[in-house]
Amino acid sequence: MNFEAFVARCRAEWPGFDDPRRLSRAPYPADRSLAGILAEVEGMATENKLRLLNLAVGALSDGEVYVEIGCYKGASLIGASAGNPAAKIYACDNFSQFRATADELRATLARRTAPGQVSFHDMEFRDFLRLRPWHPASIGVYFYDGGHSFADQYEALALVLGSLANDALVIIDDTNKRNVRAANRLFARCVPGFELVLDLRTARNHSPAWWNGIQLYRFRRSGPPLPLDGPAYRCRRFLWDDVLLRGRHLYRAGRGALKQRLKARARPRAR
Ligand SMILES: C[S@@+](CC[C@H](N)C(=O)[O-])C[C@H]1O[C@@H](n2cnc3c(N)ncnc32)[C@H](O)[C@@H]1O
Repeated sequence: MNFEAFVARCRAEWPGFDDPRRLSRAPYPADRSLAGILAEVEGMATENKLRLLNLAVGALSDGEVYVEIGCYKGASLIGASAGNPAAKIYACDNFSQFRATADELRATLARRTAPGQVSFHDMEFRDFLRLRPWHPASIGVYFYDGGHSFADQYEALALVLGSLANDALVIIDDTNKRNVRAANRLFARCVPGFELVLDLRTARNHSPAWWNGIQLYRFRRSGPPLPLDGPAYRCRRFLWDDVLLRGRHLYRAGRGALKQRLKARARPRAR
């Protein structure tokens, strides 16, 4: 992708683009024409995020495609494709989280994107990345907004690496989460040319500026990566997913059960 053109367009949209603290608080971009999307299609996104994806897709080079993982009801896909009808898009979701369906998403895409522009795959993202339906094209812009366990995050990068263009942009959502940041950081350490170029954090999740944080990496293919499945990855996966994530799920389940019991006890007994 044409990284320089992308950055120049971003500077025109956000006067504080080169100052991450200022940018992280920007309420919206200069061009507000994507604002209506979120009023029509429920999304886990913001106007800023849609514009950023849209500019990235607009900077694809010939023969490159946009790939998105984690589409939900389609808001980010529609934002990315708006005004870029020639861009070819491959997208994936398995609807394992939240409440959306493949039929609903397909109907929205049929209404809001150019015919044949989006090739949607209802499947687990690892299978999708191994299938490489875009092949032999390469990915100029990759947006990952799927599951956010440490393993999900890291494998979503490891499995796409071979398909990225020699100069590609990787956009990762929900990067306020510490496990997401840790996975991205480790991956960048193992892969020469994978460079963090923007890191926006928000004060909370569902922030109207940038939702739950976002990171942009520029990938310029250079040397071969270090082994991606080595002990550094396996130790961190154990810590983040098997210990911390599982512990959090158990804690939440226990707290929920306790609340139910207390509620049942407080209810007056029927005579
Ligand atoms: C935060 S939502 C995506 C939001 C969307 N990009 C938007 O802007 O509205 C995350 C999506 O990732 C999907 N997902 C989670 N784990 C997945 C997996 N292993 N494979 C494919 N999709 C997955 C969920 O079903 C969910 O729809």
